[in-house]
Amino acid sequence: MMYLGVDYYPEHWDLEMMEHDLERIVALGANTVRIGEFAWHLMEATEGRYDFSYFDQAIQKMKAYGLNVIFGTPTTTFPAWLAKKYPEILSVDAEGQKRVFGGRRQYCYNSEIYSVKSSQIVTALLTHYQSEPAIVAWQIDNELGHEGSDQCYCESCHKGFQTFLKEKYVDIEVLNRTYGAIFWGQTYNDFDEIPMPLKTITTHNPTLQLDWARFRSKSINDYAKMQIDIVNKLKRPQQNVIHNFFGGFFERAYDQNLLASRLDRVAYDNYPVWGGLEKPISPANIAMTHDYIRGLKRENFWIVEELMGAQGHTVIGYLPRPNQAKMWSYQAMARGCEALLYFRWRGMTHGAEQFCQGILDQDDQINEKYREVKAFFDDIKRYEVVLSTPILAEVAVLYDYDNRWSWQAQSQSHAFDFTNELLRVYEGFYTQNIHIDVIDIKKSWDQYKVIALPVMQIVDDALLMRLKAFAEKGGQVIFSFRSGIKNRDNNLRLGENILNELCGVKLKNYESLGLNNQVKLKTSTHEAAIGGATMSVWRDLLEPTTAEVIYRYDDLFFDQYAAITKNSFGDGTVYYVGGGLSQVATNALIEQILKETGILTHKSAKGLEVVRRNSGEDTYLFIMNHTESNQSYLEHTVGPYESRIINLAKI
Ligand code: GAL
Ligand code: ZN
Repeated sequence: MMYLGVDYYPEHWDLEMMEHDLERIVALGANTVRIGEFAWHLMEATEGRYDFSYFDQAIQKMKAYGLNVIFGTPTTTFPAWLAKKYPEILSVDAEGQKRVFGGRRQYCYNSEIYSVKSSQIVTALLTHYQSEPAIVAWQIDNELGHEGSDQCYCESCHKGFQTFLKEKYVDIEVLNRTYGAIFWGQTYNDFDEIPMPLKTITTHNPTLQLDWARFRSKSINDYAKMQIDIVNKLKRPQQNVIHNFFGGFFERAYDQNLLASRLDRVAYDNYPVWGGLEKPISPANIAMTHDYIRGLKRENFWIVEELMGAQGHTVIGYLPRPNQAKMWSYQAMARGCEALLYFRWRGMTHGAEQFCQGILDQDDQINEKYREVKAFFDDIKRYEVVLSTPILAEVAVLYDYDNRWSWQAQSQSHAFDFTNELLRVYEGFYTQNIHIDVIDIKKSWDQYKVIALPVMQIVDDALLMRLKAFAEKGGQVIFSFRSGIKNRDNNLRLGENILNELCGVKLKNYESLGLNNQVKLKTSTHEAAIGGATMSVWRDLLEPTTAEVIYRYDDLFFDQYAAITKNSFGDGTVYYVGGGLSQVATNALIEQILKETGILTHKSAKGLEVVRRNSGEDTYLFIMNHTESNQSYLEHTVGPYESRIINLAKI
């Protein structure tokens, strides 16, 4: 069954409104509602007195309307009595300030008492609903790690960090050596001397900062595992265990791959525009989030919060244009979403989210958004079979959280933005309308013809071996700048760059281009040569050994250095892009690479996204117009923000 529905918070409204709500939810074409994830107090108003009667009656009503239920464990928002009785559960921010009750997500993942209290409420909830077949999935907490909750600097976290380091390094001398603690005389006699990276003068040791991020990530994953284990023990066999991941994942000290591996389904909360944004994030950026989410398990995913209206807590921005939010839903389905719920049924008149629109607004009337959702549900139901087929990409953009966090410790250029650097190469693939996996580097790459490793500054020996084997067998590898300069401890390697042989270049020097500098490139030979090739953010100055030069710097002093190179390695080819290459030039380069590999592309106008899905003997093209004017594809004209699914004979 394809779950389609809404996030419903019945407890926000008078009980008498529920029937009318459910009638309209069903008339919308929905078959599922998500409930419960913020309602701890309603289930345990005083310590240890569990009472699920509110949700018992709500679920009975939902069942009467034939609705399935996704139930969230309520640990994102704990009751006030809990914070009062156990203030040690409250997390501490980077200023050393304890967060207070109010808001949400302000608990510490390493608080023992919070863990106990969470396990108790989750156990009680699951036990109570053990015989409830209407519940089709259990959602663990809500957006773990979001809104800055990945960080906590409390005493338990400090102790936990020191224990984590002790388990990792065993001997303090090993840590001292690894950190290079001799520098600035930071040598430790004991693990209990090691600080958290709170405010200091200048900056903390980069290895310590990377270890801290790993520790934060482990803290979230351990906390989530505690809940997942309980749910798995008590749930009905057919129920799915899910978690809803948020956008902006690369900004957090939290590697979601581990948590995803413990879930039945990865779910995503898709908000292409949020808060004060004056326009949505770019179509390629939205697409990249879906490809990342699908990549967590390399499986199709669910969306349990899809935006349907302007959103923000204190400030809001762009209002999605008619059909635009609907188009984002088509885009998500095209890229591997198999179940979709809108956030939320109706905007709330009280509390912190008064300006987060729902499908219905405060006037409680059927409106255009309702009609959009209905049209989408009615249409998309017809494509259940094709939407459940796996997406088999031939191209992957690889990331590694250690690498991402090493950049977080030292961004090296004021203009550096990790997501933008991924997006730069991703967009090159995206504009060719091909399937792209955005995956953790630890996953296998055998299925791909092309892999890109943007700003992969951490490369260890094991990774180098894998890269060589991939290229030898005929794979195409694309690096961008700063590649391979660091080891897994976040230290520079003494000696030659580990990638020299693979890339056929030597890194002679480098320059941060900061926010305002741009340098020109020149080329005489290569087919990818086009006008407007510039570098920003950064430039590596390369001396080719075996590589062919695609672009050089057009520069009075540095024009002997290559900027972009291409090296044959075994049966494959390895590209090195030494800086933030302008988008037109990146796109042209990638178009050329794809041509050489024979990957099937679909040329389309800018802003017109085409996604091919195959099912049996059929091919479906999902066409999404991200622009405000008509666009055509084949013989079809697609209006502003319109989406179309067309069925062809197999291609
Ligand atoms: C999500 C969150 C929801 C709600 C929504 C508002 O991040 O999971 O609970 O806050 O944003 O847009
Ligand atoms: Zn803490």
